[in-house]
Amino acid sequence: MQKQGRDYIVFPLDFASVKDAKEYVKLLNGSVGMFKIGLELFIDQGPSVVQMVKKESDAKIFLDLKLHDISATVLRAMERVANLGVDLVTVHCSSSTNMLEKAVLGGQGKTGILGVTLLTDNDADTVEAAGFKDKFVKDPHLLVMHRAKMAYEAGCKGVVCSGKEVQQVKKAFGNDFLAVTPGIRPAWTLLENDDQKRVTTPGQAVTLGSDLIVIGRPIRDADDPGKAAQRVIKEIEAALSPPDNL
Ligand code: C5P
Repeated sequence: MQKQGRDYIVFPLDFASVKDAKEYVKLLNGSVGMFKIGLELFIDQGPSVVQMVKKESDAKIFLDLKLHDISATVLRAMERVANLGVDLVTVHCSSSTNMLEKAVLGGQGKTGILGVTLLTDNDADTVEAAGFKDKFVKDPHLLVMHRAKMAYEAGCKGVVCSGKEVQQVKKAFGNDFLAVTPGIRPAWTLLENDDQKRVTTPGQAVTLGSDLIVIGRPIRDADDPGKAAQRVIKEIEAALSPPDNL
């Protein structure tokens, strides 16, 4: 089936209570392609939150665990995750290709691995403080691409990267390698004191080649979250369909 506008949208269930999360799952079911369960909710609720999302929606599930441990432990953890029946899981690329390969193996073809390249709160200073080579300090995007290559070679399904890197990732690793982009802000939402600094609109992100956009607060905090999601869908569809010049 052809990919629709809603299939690009990942809504993060960034809620402290499962009650609130459930309310949004019910509200947005049919308007988003995927729900993202993060550490906050998973630590509090465990696998039951995955079951809740499955029961209340037909959307896919992205478990944002950002795993990072010795390869053998990641393998065993991923075997458990695959049994939960989630579609995507995040694993840091900052350890080794072996760890990423073991994560892919543990996913057993049931759960795809997304590599986390460089967290957005890391900048050149952080990269320098972590002891990286000068070339990565001078240009942290080189580190993003280096780690994306590790993820690609290990058989990961794709990477999480900013809108700024999507085109480069797609060019280097092809269309089948997923680029998942957070930091999405539609032009019509202006959040006060926003912590996302380098933002991309939904239309820009999909035009650049993003396969999935993670968009939380612009939908969650809208007066009418259902309408906000529909507005994002329209924007995505408009960006993807060439203008009618007739
Ligand atoms: O759209 P909003 O800023 O509310 O989205 C926040 C979500 O995006 C959180 O779940 C956060 O973990 C995720 N995220 C992010 N920046 C990244 C990677 C993921 O904000 N670089």
